[in-house]
Amino acid sequence: MFSLSIEGFEIPPEWVSLSKDLQDGRIIFVLGASDTGKTTLIKFLIDGFVKSGKKVAFVDSDIGQSSISVPTAISSALVSSVDDIKSPRVHSLFFIGSTSPPGNLLQMAVGLKKTVEAALLAKPDLVLVDTTGFIHGATALELKYQKVSLVQPTHIVAIQREKEVEPILGSVRASFDNLKILRLKPGSSVIGRSLDERQANRERRFAQYFSRARKLKIKIGDVLLRRGPFGVGLPISDLKLYELSKTTGLDLLYGEEGNEEVVLVARSMGHSDSLLNKIQSYLKKRFVRVINQSELEGTIVGLGIRAQGGFVSGLGIILGVEEGIVNVFTPVMDSSKIGVLIFGSLKISTSGKETGKSTFY
Ligand SMILES: Nc1ncnc2c1ncn2[C@@H]1O[C@H](COP(=O)(O)OP(=O)(O)OP(=O)(O)O)[C@@H](O)[C@H]1O
Ligand SMILES: [Mg+2]
Repeated sequence: MFSLSIEGFEIPPEWVSLSKDLQDGRIIFVLGASDTGKTTLIKFLIDGFVKSGKKVAFVDSDIGQSSISVPTAISSALVSSVDDIKSPRVHSLFFIGSTSPPGNLLQMAVGLKKTVEAALLAKPDLVLVDTTGFIHGATALELKYQKVSLVQPTHIVAIQREKEVEPILGSVRASFDNLKILRLKPGSSVIGRSLDERQANRERRFAQYFSRARKLKIKIGDVLLRRGPFGVGLPISDLKLYELSKTTGLDLLYGEEGNEEVVLVARSMGHSDSLLNKIQSYLKKRFVRVINQSELEGTIVGLGIRAQGGFVSGLGIILGVEEGIVNVFTPVMDSSKIGVLIFGSLKISTSGKETGKSTFY
């Protein structure tokens, strides 16, 4: 049932015995540093399990080197036939907004939990979870620990060159009793990739994802803006924004007002310190932030589905903001189900090239 070659190399005998040890697995995490063969092992396992008649959910929480969908999101697919193995259909997408976990730990943990939960609703025989190579250091340990605590996998497969995953394994073993831990060494001929190759790989994924995108106009009043600079307070009414524009001389396109802070999006540059002071005393706020709309251009965003907490119908790239409208480059066709626009921290071009980090994050 488990084939003897994949991607042109021979399957290590340990992989075949591992697949036997995982027969009673329900939720399996594969952990390991970058380029240890995590994704290839998962593909091998999916292939074998599906051919033996099982329905497998594949949860791809590698937001950098994604294999099912697009970087910056956690995705899942259900695989129950040989056709699904060749081209898995995306079942859910949870937007993170960055290609690496630091700065997004909460979203990574919640996103994984929610994605596994959503996958389990389809009653798969088992769930295989691919992860990022973020395993070194206290932050990585804490993230993996909390993910295990939330999702409660039945098995962890650790692929390690030496003992690099042991600190994580030690910490989860001490807290979770029924967890089975299985260890593997990477195949001797695993090919490492440079940072440039990793970036090129992500850019290929982005280009592919956005190849069918077009401009979608989203009414600002119809959506909630989240993350990045937004979410500090409630949207400022059109009337108040108009008054504020008149008082300040700024052409304001959007604003939010919290208890102590205010965030404004202006059409063009030119806000001096004295202007910020003027807004501060006019609105009686301690913190004032004015963002030029051009600063938002190129930002990757998630188009959140109304009432589906965190899941998105797709990703987009901010093209610009105009009167009451955000223009987004996206393959999502229908804006009617979009209730939330989630701002990521990565900027990319419409052809998928990574152009930097958002300045406002
Ligand atoms: N057992 C093996 N023998 C030979 N080559 C392998 C083996 N396992 C994986 N490879 C090759 O090594 C490369 C890296 O493997 P893979 O992408 O599965 O690693 P990964 O741990 O998922 O990496 P990443 O951190 O980038 O997600 C791939 O080109 C793959 O084909
Ligand atoms: Mg991988």
